[in-house]
Amino acid sequence: MVFESMFGCTRAVAESIAEGMTAAGLPTVVLDVDDVLAHDDVVARARLLVVGAPTHMRGLSTPRSRALARARGGQGDLGVHEWLDALPGLSGRSTAVFDTRSWSRFAGSAGSRIEKLLRRRGAEIIAPTQAFGIEGGEDGRATIDDAQLQLARAWGGSLAAHLLSPVH
Ligand SMILES: Cc1cc2nc3c(=O)[nH]c(=O)nc-3n(C[C@H](O)[C@H](O)[C@H](O)COP(=O)(O)O)c2cc1C
Repeated sequence: MVFESMFGCTRAVAESIAEGMTAAGLPTVVLDVDDVLAHDDVVARARLLVVGAPTHMRGLSTPRSRALARARGGQGDLGVHEWLDALPGLSGRSTAVFDTRSWSRFAGSAGSRIEKLLRRRGAEIIAPTQAFGIEGGEDGRATIDDAQLQLARAWGGSLAAHLLSPVH
């Protein structure tokens, strides 16, 4: 599981998804994108690679949007986009994608951008991208409620069940 998070919501979702995966029989390592380069081997060996990021400016964060988030109290340097750009091919690898975003119908989606980048690298996406709604909004300082974290645990469980099912 590789996640990007500046205000902690996507981190909390990632940890809950990982709990659900682990409980369903797929032990999961959770890596902040800021630390993932030191763990290339974990990424290379993973049976399932789950990638998640916050929606910024209707898509994936950029150096500029992250600078804006830092100015509002967020923390973090690297983005999932830059990490994926530098990653070797993922041909035939199983992946799944999630994002966090506001509830607005104009929210956009970091996840659909991640999907495109993964497909371009030859990855197989094993489940529809899952969005998790945050409270707060575009000024940062977002929070996420327990119902979304429960959904995250359940989604993690369903990913593991799908991957571990004999017909997969
Ligand atoms: C610079 C910036 C731009 C954002 N743009 C959007 C957006 O276009 N759509 C949206 O739904 N949320 C947007 N948000 C809210 C983020 O989605 C929210 O901060 C994020 O999901 C919180 O996740 P994190 O706590 O893991 O950083 C934006 C936030 C920032 C800081």
